[in-house]
Amino acid sequence: MAKQEMKKISQRVMSNSICSKIVVLVLLAIFSFPQSLISAGSNVELIEQNWPFHGVFGRFDKASLQRGFKVYREVCAGCHGIRHIAYRDLEDIGFTKDEIKSIAAEYELLDGPNDEGEMFTRFAKLSDKFVGPYENVNAARVANNGAYPPDLSLITKARVGGADYLYSLLNGYKEYPENFEASEGMYFNEYYPGNQIAMPAPIEDDIVEYDDGTEASQSQIARDVTSFLAWTAEPELETRKSLGVKTIFFLILISIMLLGVKRKIWKDLD
Ligand code: HEC
Repeated sequence: MAKQEMKKISQRVMSNSICSKIVVLVLLAIFSFPQSLISAGSNVELIEQNWPFHGVFGRFDKASLQRGFKVYREVCAGCHGIRHIAYRDLEDIGFTKDEIKSIAAEYELLDGPNDEGEMFTRFAKLSDKFVGPYENVNAARVANNGAYPPDLSLITKARVGGADYLYSLLNGYKEYPENFEASEGMYFNEYYPGNQIAMPAPIEDDIVEYDDGTEASQSQIARDVTSFLAWTAEPELETRKSLGVKTIFFLILISIMLLGVKRKIWKDLD
């Protein structure tokens, strides 16, 4: 009997120590994961920017988002989609319904089938998601030397370094260094893992003309389009952050009130 109990206890101890080992392993995996991704990529330090949407009170700069959308539309949209964003979402960054209607009307998409069972093309509506530049992945690859230009709606979340990585990437094109074995149709980029990217440098000074008179320098363009793509990755960021701040404020208030109540109840017993 005593032997069996001993066995049970030792089994429990064993399984407990296995559990704790698993917990340690999982924690190690979690904490070393981004590190291993960084080291798998480029080891050059990213250019850090002071983004208005970072931090507890983070907010988007609407003027910058609108300029960034212009850059996306006139430059990036030729090769990249933003399929998680609907045309009507642009209202959030300050466009009017009429402006959005005319933007949507520039895009055509395949719809159907109609009553006769035929597919048909029509202009995009406010409720449609952004129409991408290619019919399918293969068509995209053929047009880009075999490389696939990824959808950009979630790109700032999908890459280590987020907005700073995107900003650095757009400013990171250089001539090939000497003795670098360059592949055909590839471009040197300091921040891209492996340093060779199939995307030609997409921006340069004055590649767009801003309606609000902002100087369209390369770094300004990179900053605006990065802000825009941070918004497409998390359009609800402002709501989330202001809810967080309200919740913390509420928790502080309720803690103070509870402390007061506790003091009052225990007063006579002290
Ligand atoms: C001529 C087509 C073309 C244009 C225009 C273009 N891209 Fe690309 N982009 C590509 C291709 C192709 C790739 C895939 C690169 C690869 O796999 O080597 C790519 C990849 C990317 C990536 C992914 C990089 C990574 O870490 O995997 C980002 C981010 C990106 N582009 C942003 C942009 C932005 C922002 C613009 C507009 C300012 C833009 N691109 C304009 C073709 C283009």
